[in-house]
Amino acid sequence: MDIRIGLLGCGTVGAGVIDLMRKRSNKISDMTGMRPSITRVLVRDLTKERGIDLDGAMLTTNPDDILSDPDIRIVIETIGGIEPARSYILTALKAGKHVITANKDLIALHGSEIIETADAAGVDILYEAAVGGAIPLIRPLKESLTANDITDLLGIINGTTNYILTQMTETGADFSEALKEAQDLGYAEADPTSDVDGLDAARKLTILATIGFHAKVNLSEVEVSGIRSVTAADVKYASEIGCVIKLLASGTDRNGILSLRVSPTLVPKQHPLAGVSGSYNALFVRGDASGDLMFFGRGAGSLPTASSVVGDVIEALRNMRLNVSGRVSQMVMPHKTVDPDGGSALRHYLRMSVVDQPGVFAKIAGLCGDEGLSMETVLQKRASKGTAEVVIVTHEVKPEVIRRVVEAFRQMPSIKSIDCVMPVQPMTE
Ligand SMILES: NC(=O)c1ccc[n+]([C@@H]2O[C@H](COP(=O)([O-])OP(=O)(O)OC[C@H]3O[C@@H](n4cnc5c(N)ncnc54)[C@H](OP(=O)(O)O)[C@@H]3O)[C@@H](O)[C@H]2O)c1
Repeated sequence: MDIRIGLLGCGTVGAGVIDLMRKRSNKISDMTGMRPSITRVLVRDLTKERGIDLDGAMLTTNPDDILSDPDIRIVIETIGGIEPARSYILTALKAGKHVITANKDLIALHGSEIIETADAAGVDILYEAAVGGAIPLIRPLKESLTANDITDLLGIINGTTNYILTQMTETGADFSEALKEAQDLGYAEADPTSDVDGLDAARKLTILATIGFHAKVNLSEVEVSGIRSVTAADVKYASEIGCVIKLLASGTDRNGILSLRVSPTLVPKQHPLAGVSGSYNALFVRGDASGDLMFFGRGAGSLPTASSVVGDVIEALRNMRLNVSGRVSQMVMPHKTVDPDGGSALRHYLRMSVVDQPGVFAKIAGLCGDEGLSMETVLQKRASKGTAEVVIVTHEVKPEVIRRVVEAFRQMPSIKSIDCVMPVQPMTE
């Protein structure tokens, strides 16, 4: 049977999807008994060079050419962003079309609405490419691992920040230099806010935690801090205590109490995530029956992302053939409480600038004692013009206590600034 597909957007991912669909067309027909073909492609600019051989007659700037065409059975959305992608997807689903999307922003913010609409229409909504590019994460969590209670999700799920931090580690570059290089190489966007401030990773964690912890998770429940405050000095000090700095997304479920965090984190050099460098992504998953699992691979790029999108197309085709579309819905998702203390106790790294005079250390130690915070290491790193740089590594303490102590430090006249605060990831047991 011939199946017509409409593609919304033909940029990095969309062009990769067209390319891969062509390369695999015989195999897809063998596997599904269907002959799918992309027949219409929605873009903004009909004249743009797209780096692929494309019949100009396929291109359109009118979304109705896809959304209102009853012969198009599958819609692939690779536009990105919230609108008009959300409206297009909802229209397609309501019209009985299966939808495949790579759009993490949309699934993180409007996932419930979209999934409920697909459920009501009895069609597939598939979004493997939304998290981790080529790495299979959604389907393993949604299908293969459902017999488990997932207790831990820990990962590097933003390639841009991982590239920047890797460059800072390997070359000693400062944040701004490494960011500029990432932009020049196309790893970071001209406006890098969403990546470097941790928002992209937080959206992806929202999606993973919703599925993994079988809970209604809101983006606002993720504690987010980005990597702008990380300096070359932090990278060096981290190395001196046997760690590298990574932007980690961490989710835990302890007997129904969730903790969700994205933050730059000191990771011991022997930890499996420490060696995940450049634009690669990785996710560590702990299930109560499965034990520990690690997923690793390319988190972005044209063909790696197309690999997941086209995998979803094949699943939709198989479901159509078997008449079982809409089979894996979210069903009932309970809301779980988020730990107000910020989750498990962890060691923390603090770098601050203090007035370089006698008695300051005693004041810092006194305040920590009052708050029940015990210090593992205190190092004076540099001093110039009456200011000393001090690095403290604490013993294990709840994130809420660290927040309180940092607030109290900010009120102390002898502390000029708190420049960087990061948790230290323990080794996996
Ligand atoms: N890039 C990756 O490696 C990657 C990895 C995983 C997930 N994703 C996700 O995949 C999606 C697409 O990313 P991308 O990197 O391929 O983006 P992109 O290169 O910017 O491509 C976006 C495409 O959408 C079209 N478009 C944008 N707004 C439109 C509108 N209002 N109406 C019609 N067409 C419109 C653009 O048309 P013109 O070409 O005419 O401007 C372009 O072809 C995003 O959700 C992204 O988060 C990307």
